[in-house]
Amino acid sequence: MTAGVSGGPLFLFALLLQVVLIHVFCSLPTVVHSKCILFNFGDSNSDTGGLMAGLGLYLGPPAGRRFFHKTTGRFCDGQLYIDFICESLKINFLSPYLESSGSNFSHGVNFAVAGAATEPTAIPFTLSTQVLQFFHFKNRTRELRAQGLGLLISEKGFRNAVYSFDMGQNDISIALSSNVSYSAVIEKIPSILSRIKDAIKSIYKNGGRKFWVYNTGPLGCLPQMLAFLKKNDSVLDAVGCLATVNNAAKEFNAGLWGLCNQISSKYKDATVVYTDMFAIKYGLITNHAKYGFVNPLMACCGYGGTPYNYRFSMQCGEPNVTACPVGSRYISWDGVHYTEAANSIIASKILSAKLQMRMVAESLSYAILGR
Ligand SMILES: *[C@@H]1O[C@H](CO)[C@@H](O)[C@H](O)[C@H]1NC(C)=O
Ligand SMILES: *[C@@H]1O[C@H](CO)[C@@H](O)[C@H](O)[C@H]1NC(C)=O
Ligand SMILES: *[C@@H]1O[C@H](CO)[C@@H](O)[C@H](O)[C@H]1NC(C)=O
Ligand SMILES: *[C@@H]1O[C@H](CO)[C@@H](O)[C@H](O)[C@H]1NC(C)=O
Ligand SMILES: *[C@@H]1O[C@H](CO)[C@@H](O)[C@H](O)[C@H]1NC(C)=O
Repeated sequence: MTAGVSGGPLFLFALLLQVVLIHVFCSLPTVVHSKCILFNFGDSNSDTGGLMAGLGLYLGPPAGRRFFHKTTGRFCDGQLYIDFICESLKINFLSPYLESSGSNFSHGVNFAVAGAATEPTAIPFTLSTQVLQFFHFKNRTRELRAQGLGLLISEKGFRNAVYSFDMGQNDISIALSSNVSYSAVIEKIPSILSRIKDAIKSIYKNGGRKFWVYNTGPLGCLPQMLAFLKKNDSVLDAVGCLATVNNAAKEFNAGLWGLCNQISSKYKDATVVYTDMFAIKYGLITNHAKYGFVNPLMACCGYGGTPYNYRFSMQCGEPNVTACPVGSRYISWDGVHYTEAANSIIASKILSAKLQMRMVAESLSYAILGR
């Protein structure tokens, strides 16, 4: 069963499932003051400053020029989709686990680190390391709680928390950018999935019960991928994206969908929500004009101009690299990451299913995820 197709019943399904998560896992909008706790594992798509804190690096302007009006370590001009989700849950933005100053973990922790993958990369924060960091955090919280110190997260808080995973993009794109055949890339997928499965299983065994899994986006539409891998126009799909690269993402997503079904039928007391980011992002690129976006395959911040405004040696944040004027409607911020304007629409798609659809969503989730 493929999960990565744009539009169609599965897309609708993914949106409906969000309602289950938001309104059953977390506070109903009418229930003021009840709170959701979110632990997130991932890469730059959801990194709120972890890489910069962890490695002591600095991501300079123009990153953060919107909303925060300062650099925050987000690979974006402003808010990420996860920030919009926190806003809608009425919780603080998630502090990065590795940020030692000014962090507030009372509503959760963000373990996501830009560049991370399930496999070791140049970035020493693989998915399994992020999960160990969570165990460390939980152990520490318990220890301090026993001494009457520190944190606000109780055992119940950990049990009822939502554990979200947005991983896989770097595994796939590293494989695609290395000099291996398409079939060699596809052959890597089962081991990527198995590491994601291990992560979810170990959190389940540790007491987690609510899992929110994001699939990977249309990597073949990223200006970086297009600038690297496009040989000629015959490799492009109707929208102008690299068809094979998107197929690799869809293969991964189909496997991830299968994995979510597996976990959900094996662990009857767990709830697994699967979000079809591919459909959401591909839909946004396809229908960009409807949302007022221009140049959907061109980076706002980059170098080289049309068609992709991306050059590996001249990336956003480096000297002489300029960004599109504030207020312009670009989907891609820096050739790899989405702009705040795009993230806001992506988040609203994730959250937009109508409240009255909730029961339908529950029965659908029962039917499809075996819950
Ligand atoms: C952390 O955030 C919570 C929720 O907004 C707030 O109640 C608490 O006072 C904050 N803690 C600190 C130390 O700022
Ligand atoms: C957490 O504590 C348990 C024992 O309570 C221990 O087995 C485990 O290794 C600890 N994990 C970390 C990462 O500290
Ligand atoms: C890529 O792989 C092919 C075949 O394995 C080899 O002939 C070629 O030299 C490699 N190219 C690079 C840049 O490594
Ligand atoms: C375009 O590139 C593909 C993949 O490298 C190649 O198989 C095909 O022959 C090329 N087509 C043209 C028209 O050059
Ligand atoms: C940036 O532009 C200035 C002025 O055009 C030039 O002197 C300098 O070498 C450029 N720096 C880089 C890193 O390209």
